[in-house]
Amino acid sequence: MVAATAATGMSAPQLLANVTSDQISASPYPHFSKQNALPEDIYHRLDREFPDLAMVLNGRTSYGNNEAVRMSAKQVLGDHRISPLWRSFFEYHTSIDYWRSVTRLFGDFFRQEFPGLETRLGRRFEDWRVIPRGFSGEAEVRLDCQFVMNTPVTHVSSVKNPHVDLCDKIFSGLFYFRDPADTTEGGDLQMYAWKRSPRFIKHRTMSRDIELAKTIHYAPNTYLCFVNSAKAIHGVSPRGITATPRRYINFIAELPIEAFQPQQLNRWQRVLYRSEVKSDGCEERY
Ligand SMILES: [Fe+2]
Repeated sequence: MVAATAATGMSAPQLLANVTSDQISASPYPHFSKQNALPEDIYHRLDREFPDLAMVLNGRTSYGNNEAVRMSAKQVLGDHRISPLWRSFFEYHTSIDYWRSVTRLFGDFFRQEFPGLETRLGRRFEDWRVIPRGFSGEAEVRLDCQFVMNTPVTHVSSVKNPHVDLCDKIFSGLFYFRDPADTTEGGDLQMYAWKRSPRFIKHRTMSRDIELAKTIHYAPNTYLCFVNSAKAIHGVSPRGITATPRRYINFIAELPIEAFQPQQLNRWQRVLYRSEVKSDGCEERY
């Protein structure tokens, strides 16, 4: 399928269109990852046309160390400063056609992870109505696609410690656009497995309860997506001091209801593990 050819001379890239179900990994939770996710010429054009930090900051003049700043599909789709190729990318990855690729590959995993969710929403995952996030209308799922930058690092830190995404999000993705000039260590996506039954502090975990299962390096043209449930613990490895922002596209599938409830530590456990329960200063907008 092709879009935006008249404006760009290139097809809108479709990240999941050619993936087959045998390429999906079930462990430590259902996911797909790929290096060299797009053909080199398309990737390099997107890389060149990636907005700069000032545009993503959208008028903000101050920001913190290693802070995530975003530009959502709602902002991008109507913004003609963004290149036609990028706008077609955002349009496709917030569309029913993209959702069809998601459910073709992950529909059965959704049914396993969220039994009863189709009944609660009254339709099979495959039949959900789709609207880009931020737009009005009735839909079972709202899709977002965001330019994200992690701001320059002035002291070594992680932008996100191990967590699951919010309970109304069932499918998440990242597509890395590492700056060719970036020589900093870290910023890798780390996927974890539970060593025990899941237990949370809000959406975060304690490191005693999890073990590292897989690392997706922060490398150019690298894509990862996963089913977000109580199993889907992930975080970002600490990043070294650098003036170069970490760049990626963030993909979100958001429901009008919560799909799962993270089991919270009980009062006794919160006292016992109080030094580990304290907020670590990481961003809480999962
Ligand atoms: Fe996350």
